[in-house]
Amino acid sequence: MKFILLGAPGAGKGTQAQFLTKQFDIPQISTGDMLRAAIKAGTPMGKMAKEFMDAGKLVTDEIIIGLVKDRIAEPDCKNGFLLDGFPRTVPQADALAEAGVAIDAVVEIAVPDTEIVNRMSGRRAHLASGRTYHVVYNPPKVEGKDDETGEDLVQRDDDKPDVVLGRLEVYHKQTAPLIDYYQAVAAKDASVKYLKVDGTQKIDQVETAILDGLKA
Ligand code: AP5
Ligand code: ZN
Repeated sequence: MKFILLGAPGAGKGTQAQFLTKQFDIPQISTGDMLRAAIKAGTPMGKMAKEFMDAGKLVTDEIIIGLVKDRIAEPDCKNGFLLDGFPRTVPQADALAEAGVAIDAVVEIAVPDTEIVNRMSGRRAHLASGRTYHVVYNPPKVEGKDDETGEDLVQRDDDKPDVVLGRLEVYHKQTAPLIDYYQAVAAKDASVKYLKVDGTQKIDQVETAILDGLKA
């Protein structure tokens, strides 16, 4: 199973990915998590990416495409993978198609902008694993600590309200065109499923909607 999770910042891609990767036993490929790991490791790419990310802007297609191509060539991706946060621009989607990657499904998690701002302000993240929580909607067992490691949770630098609004603007301009793009792909190619789910439901209801939709 190879599929793409599409949705605005804060739509719940990472949250659903945690569950879906277990369900299908495939790796999660989150370009955001990979970039945050590069920043933490202090690599030259990480240093460059940090400026874009802190400003809520997209990192260049060239860097991202190289990163994803290398990752999907790894052995654990043989039986499939879940792309979270990639592709995010039309050139990235074109690069994926040109690389001959046959996607089985594109899952759009739809959430209106007003709800997104709420979610970002309450998000807490465990940076090492990419696990995310929400102080109200999905609290950790112990306040401020990751459920699995007990390590500290942090607020992401790009979750400050002014940056969130900029990220939403970037999403509408550069990523939302992929909704039409992949609907057109699915209309032409019966082996590709396009599934839109209502991401304003409770986390477990979104999970069920995705699983049922993929099975249907
Ligand atoms: P990235 O890390 O991909 O961020 P994003 O797409 O903006 O998405 P988020 O991680 O913010 O949200 P999410 O949908 O995963 O939501 P989550 O599950 O955490 O990218 C960060 C940056 O990296 C970009 O801005 C860019 O600079 C760069 N980048 C990354 N990929 C790139 C690419 N391909 N090209 C160029 N640049 C790239 O949920 C959010 C919150 O809501 C959590 O607190 C969660 O607990 C809560 N929540 C989730 N679901 C629900 C629900 N159903 N009900 C209530 N609360 C919920
Ligand atoms: Zn995420």
